[in-house]
Amino acid sequence: MINIQLKHLPVLLDETVFALAVKPDGIYIDGTFGCGGHTRALLAKLSNKGNLVGLDKDPSSIEKARKLALEDSRFSINQCSFGNLAEVVNSRLWKGQVNGIILDIGVSSPQLDVAERGFSFQKDGFLDMRMNPNVGISAAEWLARATMDDIVTVIKTFGEERYGRRIARAIIETREILPIVTTLQLAALIYKASPSREQNKHPATRTFQAIRIYINNELEDLKIALEQALDVLAFGGRLAVISFHSLEDRIIKRFFRNESRGDDLPSNFPITIDQLNPRVRLVGRTIKSNDLELALNSRARSAILRVIEKLV
Ligand SMILES: C[S@@+](CC[C@H](N)C(=O)[O-])C[C@H]1O[C@@H](n2cnc3c(N)ncnc32)[C@H](O)[C@@H]1O
Repeated sequence: MINIQLKHLPVLLDETVFALAVKPDGIYIDGTFGCGGHTRALLAKLSNKGNLVGLDKDPSSIEKARKLALEDSRFSINQCSFGNLAEVVNSRLWKGQVNGIILDIGVSSPQLDVAERGFSFQKDGFLDMRMNPNVGISAAEWLARATMDDIVTVIKTFGEERYGRRIARAIIETREILPIVTTLQLAALIYKASPSREQNKHPATRTFQAIRIYINNELEDLKIALEQALDVLAFGGRLAVISFHSLEDRIIKRFFRNESRGDDLPSNFPITIDQLNPRVRLVGRTIKSNDLELALNSRARSAILRVIEKLV
C-alpha cells in the first residue's frame, strides 16, 4: 500500500529555484528544510563547489536531512530556528557571502498528517503543536495555564478570529471541568462556541492557526530571519519567501517594500530614488501557484512567493 500520509509536495518549486537564479558554486541556505523538496532542487543546480545548509526545528525533518547529508557532502543540517540564521552563517564565516536563502514557512504535510503532533483539528491526538516537541511548552500546557485575556489576545491577534472572546470563555469553562489535552476536544468546543459557520471552513481553523503561531513564536522568528537574511546575503544574493497566510505575508510584504524604498524621508525631500540607499530590489512580482499545481496540491492554494535581491 502506498503511504500518501507522509508525503510533502514542495510548493512553487520551479518558480522558487528559478527566482533564486542559482550560482552553481554558490552558498545557499534552506531555512525550512521540511522534507527537503526545495533543498534537493537547489542541490541539483549546484556544482561540486557549491554548499547548502538546511535548518529546521522539527526532529523528523532533521532525521531526513541527516540521511541526505550522509549522501551529499555539499549539504549539512542544523536543528534550529531560522531566527538563528545569522548565528549559523557566522559560525561558518560566511557573512556577506550567502548567494541565496529560501524560507518556505508554516507546517509540512507530515506535521499535519501525524495526529500526535497536534497540528490538525481533523485528527485526534495530543494537543502539542510544537515544531520541536523537545523545546518549550505544548499547546495543552499553555491552554491549562493561560489567562482569559492572554487566550483572547492570541486567538484574535494570530487567528484574526472574531469570536475570540467566546472561544476563550469556552476554553476556560471547559478546563475547569477537565483538562483540554486533545485536538478533537479543542476542535469540538470551538465548534460549539462559534455562533456562525463559513462554507468549507471548520470553525476551529483560525484558532488552531493562532495557537500554533503563538506556541512556535512564528511571526517573531520570521521578522528576525528577514533582518538577518539581509545581513548575511552577498551583494546580488537573493531571498525567496513562501508564505501561507495573510499575517505572514503582511510582514514579508512590508519588509520587502520598506527595504526596497530605502531611507524613510518625506516624499518632497529633494533627492532622487537612488540617493535613498535602498538595500534591496524586488525581483519580479508576487508569484502564486498555477492551475496544475493547485489541482495536485491543496496546500498550494494560499501560497505566495516573494523574492528580493540585495543591492548594497
Ligand atoms: C512548509 S515546510 C517546508 C517544506 C520544504 N520546503 C520541502 O520542500 O520539503 C515548513 C518547515 O519549516 C519548519 N519550520 C517552521 N518554522 C520554523 C522555524 N522558525 N525555524 C526552522 N524551521 C521552521 C517546519 O518544521 C517544517 O518542517
